Amino acid sequence: MKINDFRLERYFAQHEFTAKYLLSSSDCDGYELNYVLENASIEELKLWENLKLGYTESEGIPLLREAILRHYKITSIKNVVVATPGELNFISMNVLLGSTDHAITIAPCYQSLSEVVKSINCELSYWKPSKNDWIFNTEDLEKLIQKNTKLIILNFPHNPTGSYLTKSQLNEIVAIARKHDIYIFSDEMYHKLIIDDVEELPPICDVYEKGISLWGTSKTFGLAGLRTGWLVCEDQSFLKRIVAFKDYLSICNSAPSEILTIMALNNMNLFLEPNLKKINKNIFIFNEFVKKQEVITSFTPPKAGSTSFIQLNINSSSLQFSSQLVKETGIMTVPAEMFEYEGEYIRVGFGRANFPEILEVFDGYLKEMKPAHNNK
Ligand SMILES: Cc1ncc(COP(=O)(O)O)c(C=O)c1O
Repeated sequence: MKINDFRLERYFAQHEFTAKYLLSSSDCDGYELNYVLENASIEELKLWENLKLGYTESEGIPLLREAILRHYKITSIKNVVVATPGELNFISMNVLLGSTDHAITIAPCYQSLSEVVKSINCELSYWKPSKNDWIFNTEDLEKLIQKNTKLIILNFPHNPTGSYLTKSQLNEIVAIARKHDIYIFSDEMYHKLIIDDVEELPPICDVYEKGISLWGTSKTFGLAGLRTGWLVCEDQSFLKRIVAFKDYLSICNSAPSEILTIMALNNMNLFLEPNLKKINKNIFIFNEFVKKQEVITSFTPPKAGSTSFIQLNINSSSLQFSSQLVKETGIMTVPAEMFEYEGEYIRVGFGRANFPEILEVFDGYLKEMKPAHNNK
Protein backbone atom coordinates (compact mmCIF):
# COMPACT_ATOMS: atom_id res chain seq x y z
CA MET A 1 0.00 0.00 0.00
CA LYS A 2 1.27 3.46 -0.94
CA ILE A 3 -0.08 6.69 0.49
CA ASN A 4 0.65 10.28 -0.53
CA ASP A 5 2.09 12.75 1.95
CA PHE A 6 -0.45 14.45 4.20
CA ARG A 7 0.19 17.94 2.82
CA LEU A 8 -1.60 19.82 5.63
CA GLU A 9 0.33 18.00 8.37
CA ARG A 10 3.64 18.41 6.48
CA TYR A 11 2.88 22.14 6.16
CA PHE A 12 2.19 22.35 9.90
CA ALA A 13 5.41 20.44 10.58
CA GLN A 14 7.26 23.11 8.63
CA HIS A 15 5.80 26.10 10.49
CA GLU A 16 3.82 25.20 13.63
CA PHE A 17 6.71 25.36 16.07
CA THR A 18 8.71 28.15 14.41
CA ALA A 19 6.10 30.68 13.28
CA LYS A 20 5.42 33.43 15.83
CA TYR A 21 1.66 33.48 15.26
CA LEU A 22 -0.79 30.73 14.29
CA LEU A 23 -3.83 32.14 12.52
CA SER A 24 -5.08 28.86 11.01
CA SER A 25 -5.07 26.31 13.81
CA SER A 26 -8.18 24.16 14.01
CA ASP A 27 -7.69 23.31 17.68
CA CYS A 28 -8.21 25.65 20.61
CA ASP A 29 -5.32 26.50 22.96
CA GLY A 30 -4.29 23.39 24.87
CA TYR A 31 -5.30 23.32 28.57
CA GLU A 32 -2.62 22.72 31.18
CA LEU A 33 -2.35 19.37 32.91
CA ASN A 34 -2.97 21.20 36.20
CA TYR A 35 -6.34 22.45 34.94
CA VAL A 36 -7.47 18.89 34.24
CA LEU A 37 -6.28 17.65 37.64
CA GLU A 38 -7.64 20.63 39.62
CA ASN A 39 -11.12 19.91 38.30
CA ALA A 40 -11.03 16.15 38.87
CA SER A 41 -13.08 14.42 41.58
CA ILE A 42 -11.44 12.55 44.51
CA GLU A 43 -12.16 9.19 42.79
CA GLU A 44 -10.65 10.39 39.51
CA LEU A 45 -7.55 11.66 41.31
CA LYS A 46 -7.15 8.24 42.94
CA LEU A 47 -7.10 6.69 39.47
CA TRP A 48 -4.34 9.12 38.52
CA GLU A 49 -2.24 8.58 41.65
CA ASN A 50 -2.51 4.78 41.52
CA LEU A 51 -1.97 4.57 37.77
CA LYS A 52 0.28 1.72 36.60
CA LEU A 53 2.14 2.35 33.36
CA GLY A 54 1.63 -1.06 31.81
CA TYR A 55 -0.40 -2.04 28.76
CA THR A 56 -4.14 -1.41 28.89
CA GLU A 57 -7.12 -3.08 27.13
CA SER A 58 -6.88 -2.56 23.34
CA GLU A 59 -10.46 -1.29 23.13
CA GLY A 60 -9.79 1.29 25.87
CA ILE A 61 -10.22 0.74 29.61
CA PRO A 62 -13.85 0.05 30.60
CA LEU A 63 -14.07 3.16 32.84
CA LEU A 64 -13.14 5.34 29.89
CA ARG A 65 -15.60 3.64 27.56
CA GLU A 66 -18.32 4.15 30.19
CA ALA A 67 -17.42 7.85 30.45
CA ILE A 68 -17.63 8.13 26.63
CA LEU A 69 -21.06 6.48 26.52
CA ARG A 70 -22.53 9.08 28.87
CA HIS A 71 -22.47 11.32 25.77
CA TYR A 72 -24.37 8.88 23.50
CA LYS A 73 -27.65 6.96 23.48
CA ILE A 74 -25.82 3.65 22.92
CA THR A 75 -25.27 1.94 26.29
CA SER A 76 -22.91 -1.04 25.89
CA ILE A 77 -19.15 -0.53 26.12
CA LYS A 78 -18.84 -3.25 23.45
CA ASN A 79 -19.93 -0.50 21.06
CA VAL A 80 -16.91 1.75 21.74
CA VAL A 81 -13.25 1.54 20.66
CA VAL A 82 -10.62 4.06 21.73
CA ALA A 83 -7.47 4.93 19.71
CA THR A 84 -5.95 8.05 18.17
CA PRO A 85 -8.36 9.87 15.83
CA GLY A 86 -6.14 9.47 12.76
CA GLU A 87 -5.63 5.79 13.51
CA LEU A 88 -9.39 5.22 13.79
CA ASN A 89 -9.99 6.94 10.48
CA PHE A 90 -7.19 4.97 8.80
CA ILE A 91 -8.34 1.62 10.14
CA SER A 92 -12.04 2.23 9.45
CA MET A 93 -11.43 2.91 5.75
CA ASN A 94 -9.17 -0.14 5.48
CA VAL A 95 -11.67 -2.39 7.22
CA LEU A 96 -14.71 -1.14 5.30
CA LEU A 97 -13.39 -0.66 1.78
CA GLY A 98 -11.82 -2.74 -0.98
CA SER A 99 -10.56 -1.79 -4.42
CA THR A 100 -13.88 -2.63 -6.14
CA ASP A 101 -15.90 -0.34 -3.85
CA HIS A 102 -16.94 3.27 -4.30
CA ALA A 103 -16.95 5.89 -1.53
CA ILE A 104 -18.17 9.48 -1.30
CA THR A 105 -16.42 12.06 0.85
CA ILE A 106 -17.12 15.71 1.47
CA ALA A 107 -14.76 18.20 -0.13
CA PRO A 108 -12.79 20.26 0.70
CA CYS A 109 -11.76 18.00 3.54
CA TYR A 110 -9.16 17.14 6.11
CA GLN A 111 -6.91 15.13 3.82
CA SER A 112 -7.10 11.77 5.58
CA LEU A 113 -10.83 11.65 4.77
CA SER A 114 -9.96 11.31 1.08
CA GLU A 115 -6.36 10.11 0.95
CA VAL A 116 -6.80 6.86 2.88
CA VAL A 117 -9.64 5.88 0.53
CA LYS A 118 -7.41 6.63 -2.47
CA SER A 119 -4.58 4.53 -1.00
CA ILE A 120 -6.93 1.52 -1.08
CA ASN A 121 -7.46 2.18 -4.83
CA CYS A 122 -11.11 2.61 -4.09
CA GLU A 123 -13.14 4.82 -6.41
CA LEU A 124 -13.91 8.15 -4.74
CA SER A 125 -16.44 10.92 -5.46
CA TYR A 126 -16.58 14.31 -3.80
CA TRP A 127 -19.67 15.93 -2.30
CA LYS A 128 -19.02 19.67 -2.67
CA PRO A 129 -20.77 22.69 -1.15
CA SER A 130 -21.71 25.93 -2.91
CA LYS A 131 -18.81 28.38 -3.04
CA ASN A 132 -18.37 30.88 -0.21
CA ASP A 133 -21.59 30.18 1.70
CA TRP A 134 -20.55 26.52 1.95
CA ILE A 135 -24.00 24.95 1.85
CA PHE A 136 -24.08 21.21 1.13
CA ASN A 137 -27.07 20.04 -0.89
CA THR A 138 -28.35 16.52 -0.15
CA GLU A 139 -29.71 16.13 -3.71
CA ASP A 140 -26.14 16.53 -4.99
CA LEU A 141 -25.09 13.77 -2.60
CA GLU A 142 -27.73 11.35 -3.84
CA LYS A 143 -26.65 11.93 -7.46
CA LEU A 144 -23.17 10.63 -6.58
CA ILE A 145 -24.41 7.22 -5.43
CA GLN A 146 -23.45 4.22 -7.56
CA LYS A 147 -24.29 0.51 -7.41
CA ASN A 148 -21.01 -0.21 -5.59
CA THR A 149 -21.13 2.72 -3.13
CA LYS A 150 -20.22 1.31 0.26
CA LEU A 151 -19.44 4.38 2.34
CA ILE A 152 -20.33 8.06 2.77
CA ILE A 153 -17.82 10.13 4.73
CA LEU A 154 -19.12 13.20 6.53
CA ASN A 155 -17.47 15.83 8.70
CA PHE A 156 -19.83 18.23 10.48
CA PRO A 157 -18.95 20.66 12.03
CA HIS A 158 -16.85 20.98 8.90
CA ASN A 159 -13.13 21.67 8.73
CA PRO A 160 -12.21 24.00 7.03
CA THR A 161 -15.42 25.90 6.11
CA GLY A 162 -17.36 25.92 9.41
CA SER A 163 -20.38 24.55 7.54
CA TYR A 164 -23.01 22.52 9.39
CA LEU A 165 -26.15 20.58 8.49
CA THR A 166 -29.68 21.04 9.74
CA LYS A 167 -31.32 18.10 11.50
CA SER A 168 -33.64 17.59 8.55
CA GLN A 169 -30.66 17.45 6.17
CA LEU A 170 -29.02 14.85 8.40
CA ASN A 171 -32.26 12.83 8.36
CA GLU A 172 -32.32 13.04 4.56
CA ILE A 173 -28.75 11.74 4.37
CA VAL A 174 -29.59 8.85 6.70
CA ALA A 175 -32.65 8.02 4.56
CA ILE A 176 -30.49 8.00 1.41
CA ALA A 177 -27.84 5.79 3.05
CA ARG A 178 -30.46 3.41 4.45
CA LYS A 179 -32.19 3.10 1.08
CA HIS A 180 -28.90 2.05 -0.56
CA ASP A 181 -27.52 0.13 2.45
CA ILE A 182 -24.43 2.35 2.78
CA TYR A 183 -22.26 2.93 5.86
CA ILE A 184 -21.80 6.50 7.07
CA PHE A 185 -18.47 7.38 8.69
CA SER A 186 -19.08 10.66 10.46
CA ASP A 187 -15.98 12.53 11.59
CA GLU A 188 -17.41 14.48 14.54
CA MET A 189 -14.10 15.78 15.89
CA TYR A 190 -15.65 19.25 16.35
CA HIS A 191 -18.86 17.93 17.95
CA LYS A 192 -20.52 20.40 20.35
CA LEU A 193 -18.57 23.41 19.08
CA ILE A 194 -21.84 25.07 18.08
CA ILE A 195 -22.00 28.81 17.39
CA ASP A 196 -24.87 30.88 18.82
CA ASP A 197 -28.29 29.24 18.64
CA VAL A 198 -27.56 26.79 15.80
CA GLU A 199 -29.24 23.45 16.56
CA GLU A 200 -26.80 20.69 17.58
CA LEU A 201 -26.86 17.49 15.53
CA PRO A 202 -26.99 14.08 17.20
CA PRO A 203 -23.99 11.77 16.66
CA ILE A 204 -24.66 9.60 13.59
CA CYS A 205 -24.43 6.38 15.66
CA ASP A 206 -27.50 7.52 17.63
CA VAL A 207 -29.68 7.88 14.53
CA TYR A 208 -28.40 5.30 12.01
CA GLU A 209 -27.71 1.58 12.52
CA LYS A 210 -24.83 1.72 9.97
CA GLY A 211 -23.54 5.05 11.28
CA ILE A 212 -20.02 5.26 12.75
CA SER A 213 -19.20 8.28 14.92
CA LEU A 214 -15.66 9.54 15.46
CA TRP A 215 -14.99 12.06 18.23
CA GLY A 216 -12.03 12.85 20.46
CA THR A 217 -10.39 15.27 22.86
CA SER A 218 -8.39 17.40 20.39
CA LYS A 219 -10.86 20.07 19.30
CA THR A 220 -13.94 20.21 21.55
CA PHE A 221 -11.89 19.76 24.72
CA GLY A 222 -8.66 21.60 23.86
CA LEU A 223 -6.67 18.48 24.76
CA ALA A 224 -4.99 17.51 21.48
CA GLY A 225 -1.88 16.33 23.33
CA LEU A 226 -3.80 13.39 24.82
CA ARG A 227 -4.03 11.90 21.28
CA THR A 228 -7.32 10.29 22.21
CA GLY A 229 -10.28 9.55 19.99
CA TRP A 230 -13.08 6.99 19.90
CA LEU A 231 -15.51 5.30 17.57
CA VAL A 232 -19.05 4.52 18.64
CA CYS A 233 -21.40 2.43 16.50
CA GLU A 234 -23.99 -0.33 16.72
CA ASP A 235 -21.98 -2.73 14.57
CA GLN A 236 -19.89 -4.73 17.08
CA SER A 237 -18.36 -7.00 14.42
CA PHE A 238 -16.98 -3.90 12.66
CA LEU A 239 -15.46 -2.71 15.96
CA LYS A 240 -13.87 -6.13 16.55
CA ARG A 241 -12.12 -5.79 13.20
CA ILE A 242 -10.94 -2.30 14.19
CA VAL A 243 -9.35 -3.70 17.35
CA ALA A 244 -7.69 -6.56 15.43
CA PHE A 245 -6.18 -4.05 12.95
CA LYS A 246 -5.02 -1.85 15.83
CA ASP A 247 -2.75 -4.70 16.98
CA TYR A 248 -0.49 -3.71 14.06
CA LEU A 249 -0.46 -0.06 15.11
CA SER A 250 -0.61 1.26 18.69
CA ILE A 251 -2.01 -2.00 20.25
CA CYS A 252 -3.42 -0.05 23.18
CA ASN A 253 -3.83 3.53 24.33
CA SER A 254 -1.55 5.69 26.46
CA ALA A 255 -2.48 4.81 30.06
CA PRO A 256 -2.11 8.40 31.43
CA SER A 257 -4.18 9.78 28.53
CA GLU A 258 -6.99 7.37 29.29
CA ILE A 259 -7.33 8.67 32.86
CA LEU A 260 -7.05 12.32 31.82
CA THR A 261 -9.71 11.72 29.14
CA ILE A 262 -12.09 10.30 31.77
CA MET A 263 -11.60 13.50 33.79
CA ALA A 264 -12.28 15.66 30.72
CA LEU A 265 -15.37 13.73 29.64
CA ASN A 266 -16.85 13.85 33.15
CA ASN A 267 -16.32 17.64 33.29
CA MET A 268 -16.95 18.49 29.65
CA ASN A 269 -18.40 21.95 30.15
CA LEU A 270 -15.31 23.16 32.00
CA PHE A 271 -13.39 22.53 28.78
CA LEU A 272 -16.04 23.27 26.16
CA GLU A 273 -17.46 26.53 27.49
CA PRO A 274 -14.20 28.56 27.65
CA ASN A 275 -13.43 27.30 24.12
CA LEU A 276 -16.82 28.39 22.81
CA LYS A 277 -16.48 31.77 24.49
CA LYS A 278 -13.12 32.33 22.85
CA ILE A 279 -14.33 31.18 19.41
CA ASN A 280 -17.42 33.41 19.54
CA LYS A 281 -15.40 36.45 20.61
CA ASN A 282 -12.84 35.90 17.87
CA ILE A 283 -15.52 35.45 15.19
CA PHE A 284 -17.05 38.77 16.24
CA ILE A 285 -13.66 40.53 16.09
CA PHE A 286 -12.92 38.98 12.70
CA ASN A 287 -16.27 40.10 11.28
CA GLU A 288 -15.36 43.71 12.12
CA PHE A 289 -11.82 43.22 10.82
CA VAL A 290 -13.00 41.90 7.43
CA LYS A 291 -15.13 45.02 6.80
CA LYS A 292 -11.93 47.09 6.58
CA GLN A 293 -10.02 44.70 4.29
CA GLU A 294 -10.01 44.99 0.52
CA VAL A 295 -7.90 41.85 0.19
CA ILE A 296 -10.55 39.67 1.88
CA THR A 297 -13.53 39.23 -0.44
CA SER A 298 -15.59 36.62 1.34
CA PHE A 299 -16.01 35.53 4.93
CA THR A 300 -18.91 33.31 5.98
CA PRO A 301 -18.83 33.02 9.79
CA PRO A 302 -18.81 29.39 10.90
CA LYS A 303 -22.11 27.85 12.03
CA ALA A 304 -20.14 25.31 14.03
CA GLY A 305 -16.56 24.23 14.59
CA SER A 306 -13.55 26.48 15.05
CA THR A 307 -12.54 27.46 11.50
CA SER A 308 -13.65 29.21 8.36
CA PHE A 309 -12.34 29.36 4.82
CA ILE A 310 -11.97 32.92 3.56
CA GLN A 311 -11.53 34.11 -0.01
CA LEU A 312 -8.73 36.50 -0.93
CA ASN A 313 -8.49 39.06 -3.68
CA ILE A 314 -4.83 38.49 -4.58
CA ASN A 315 -2.54 38.27 -7.60
CA SER A 316 -0.75 35.13 -6.47
CA SER A 317 -1.69 31.61 -5.46
CA SER A 318 -2.89 30.97 -1.90
CA LEU A 319 0.31 29.05 -1.19
CA GLN A 320 2.46 31.98 -2.37
CA PHE A 321 0.37 34.33 -0.19
CA SER A 322 0.79 32.14 2.90
CA SER A 323 4.52 31.62 2.29
CA GLN A 324 5.15 35.36 1.92
CA LEU A 325 2.99 36.16 4.97
CA VAL A 326 4.80 33.78 7.30
CA LYS A 327 8.18 34.95 6.01
CA GLU A 328 7.47 38.65 6.49
CA THR A 329 5.31 38.66 9.63
CA GLY A 330 5.66 35.26 11.30
CA ILE A 331 1.91 34.61 10.80
CA MET A 332 1.19 31.06 9.71
CA THR A 333 -1.94 30.48 7.60
CA VAL A 334 -3.05 27.30 5.83
CA PRO A 335 -3.59 27.87 2.08
CA ALA A 336 -6.30 26.25 -0.09
CA GLU A 337 -3.75 23.92 -1.71
CA MET A 338 -3.58 21.95 1.56
CA PHE A 339 -7.24 21.07 1.02
CA GLU A 340 -6.87 20.38 -2.72
CA TYR A 341 -9.18 23.35 -3.22
CA GLU A 342 -8.89 25.61 -6.25
CA GLY A 343 -8.96 29.36 -5.83
CA GLU A 344 -7.52 31.91 -3.46
CA TYR A 345 -8.53 30.81 0.04
CA ILE A 346 -6.94 30.44 3.44
CA ARG A 347 -8.28 28.80 6.59
CA VAL A 348 -8.74 30.96 9.68
CA GLY A 349 -8.88 29.35 13.14
CA PHE A 350 -10.77 31.08 15.97
CA GLY A 351 -9.66 29.00 18.95
CA ARG A 352 -6.59 30.91 20.08
CA ALA A 353 -6.47 33.58 22.81
CA ASN A 354 -3.87 35.69 20.98
CA PHE A 355 -6.15 36.06 17.92
CA PRO A 356 -6.67 39.87 18.38
CA GLU A 357 -2.90 40.40 18.62
CA ILE A 358 -2.34 38.38 15.43
CA LEU A 359 -5.00 40.41 13.60
CA GLU A 360 -3.15 43.65 14.43
CA VAL A 361 -0.03 42.34 12.69
CA PHE A 362 -2.12 40.91 9.82
CA ASP A 363 -3.87 44.26 9.40
CA GLY A 364 -0.54 46.06 8.97
CA TYR A 365 0.53 43.53 6.33
CA LEU A 366 -2.75 43.61 4.34
CA LYS A 367 -2.78 47.42 4.31
CA GLU A 368 0.46 47.37 2.32
CA MET A 369 -0.98 44.94 -0.26
CA LYS A 370 -2.76 45.86 -3.45
CA PRO A 371 -5.93 43.84 -4.09
CA ALA A 372 -6.02 42.05 -7.46
CA HIS A 373 -9.39 43.56 -8.41
CA ASN A 374 -11.25 46.60 -7.16
CA ASN A 375 -14.51 44.80 -6.43
CA LYS A 376 -15.41 45.40 -2.82
C1 LIG B 1 -11.86 16.76 10.53
C2 LIG B 1 -10.71 16.23 11.32
N1 LIG B 1 -10.66 14.93 11.59
C3 LIG B 1 -9.65 14.40 12.28
C4 LIG B 1 -8.62 15.18 12.75
C5 LIG B 1 -7.50 14.52 13.48
O1 LIG B 1 -7.51 14.82 14.82
P1 LIG B 1 -6.17 14.64 15.66
O2 LIG B 1 -5.31 15.79 15.27
O3 LIG B 1 -6.57 14.69 17.05
O4 LIG B 1 -5.56 13.35 15.25
C6 LIG B 1 -8.61 16.55 12.48
C7 LIG B 1 -7.50 17.41 12.92
O5 LIG B 1 -7.33 18.52 12.51
C8 LIG B 1 -9.70 17.09 11.75
O6 LIG B 1 -9.76 18.39 11.46
